[in-house]
Amino acid sequence: MKITPFAARVPRLRPDPIIMANTILVGAQWGDEGKGKIIDFLTDEAGVVVRTQGGNNAGHTIVHGNKKFVLHLIPSGILRRGKICVIGNGVVVDPLALVTEITGLRKKGVPVGANLLLSDSAHLVMPWHRALDEAREQRKGRNKIGTTKRGIGPAYGDKAARTGLRTGDLLDAVSFAAKFKARLRESNAVLRSLGAKPLPLQPALRHYLAAAKVLRPHITNTVVWLHDAMARGRNMLFEGAQGTYLDLDHGTYPFVTSSNTTAGGACTGSGVPPHRMDRVIGVMKAYTTRVGEGPFPTEDDTIGEMLHGMGREFGATTGRARRCGWFDAVATRYAAMINGIDELAITNLDGLDRVPRIKVCTAYRLDGKTLKHPPTDADSWARCRPVYRTFRGWMQDTSKARRFAQLPPAARTYVKALAGLTGAKLRIVSIGAGHDETIRL
Ligand code: GDP
Ligand code: IMO
Ligand code: MG
Repeated sequence: MKITPFAARVPRLRPDPIIMANTILVGAQWGDEGKGKIIDFLTDEAGVVVRTQGGNNAGHTIVHGNKKFVLHLIPSGILRRGKICVIGNGVVVDPLALVTEITGLRKKGVPVGANLLLSDSAHLVMPWHRALDEAREQRKGRNKIGTTKRGIGPAYGDKAARTGLRTGDLLDAVSFAAKFKARLRESNAVLRSLGAKPLPLQPALRHYLAAAKVLRPHITNTVVWLHDAMARGRNMLFEGAQGTYLDLDHGTYPFVTSSNTTAGGACTGSGVPPHRMDRVIGVMKAYTTRVGEGPFPTEDDTIGEMLHGMGREFGATTGRARRCGWFDAVATRYAAMINGIDELAITNLDGLDRVPRIKVCTAYRLDGKTLKHPPTDADSWARCRPVYRTFRGWMQDTSKARRFAQLPPAARTYVKALAGLTGAKLRIVSIGAGHDETIRL
């Protein structure tokens, strides 16, 4: 494989000045915890930001001044000059979506060039994956998963079946076209069997070949690049997508995504070994949200209506209204266990500024028993009834606080209790979408 221009042109930057070490950041709930905002906040201390799983089902929001950016495939470090963003081998990449994202950022004045590297081993999301995602959801009817319809499940399915195409395949247009045609033929047979319309070869192939031209200079062996960067003392931030309970193994299966969203996914999805990871930060909202179907014991329409009424909690990728509920410490405690969470970032505390009495689920009741950990099957999980502890609300604006001591006493008690119930150190409290609306402990 040829040496790619961008990988060769990444400047030989000096080691990062602050020793932050390599950090994995994961969502501790069902996604949308505010990972993008926290990554952007932490990027001050890291030279490299790496996505390791998921695809453009993710939507990570960053607010800089009065500008809002929603990133789907590109790591949340891209807005900062001098930072290198890496899309690792564990990500599934829709080349058309990636080109659209690059173009959109450039239009907003964000340079995207040698600061974005794309693994040559990442699997591609193809047009038939999107069509299959749609067709399977339709056939499931009331039992649907509520996917983002971005083709994520079928793309990971082909990866596991060893029939997928990878970004490295984009480097040779002639062989790519041949593989595209062969895979299209087989996938069309599956689409027909599901009662869906088969896809024509064109214009899809033309669009993919055009995207390949744009992406080619970004494609490289990112495993070698990351190890080289570590040897040069760069700090790395591994940006998780989705959340613990959307994990293919540990989530509310089958109402999950198709990748490992938990901390281990950062290693397999990047080629950086476990002993090079120094800490795991879990991001969680001060309440709970979920998009799509599946169990959610603390769901509560009253809090949902309040948050939606404030214009909050609409999906960053699909625009769907998120389901909302109280904080579920049974879930976050188990998430701390699975991910090995050392530190916590609690976001959206300000969402509770006007709630007089705030509930927190500390245990589940199921079939006459009290559970401290969630059941592993979705049906039992859906039958769990929350045991609540009630906290006094603070009924005042928290968004102006910049130090922990500036938060109202009831808010301090609340976030400390969330950290205590989860079992990890409280490090960051976020009280607004912007960079400065963040308290570090
Ligand atoms: P991600 O997928 O985990 O990156 O989260 P999303 O971007 O999908 O959703 C989080 C939403 O909450 C976005 O609209 C963020 O701008 C917003 N957000 C993050 N932290 C805070 C916070 O502390 N307060 C407020 N008001 N909004 C926040
Ligand atoms: P970020 O990174 C919230 C959900 C979908 C659906 C399930 C499967 O922004 O937190 P998929 O398209 O992945 O096959 O859908 O997973 N889902 C997310 N929910 N945040 C996300 O990403 C999500 N990515 C997927 O709603 O329930
Ligand atoms: Mg999101």
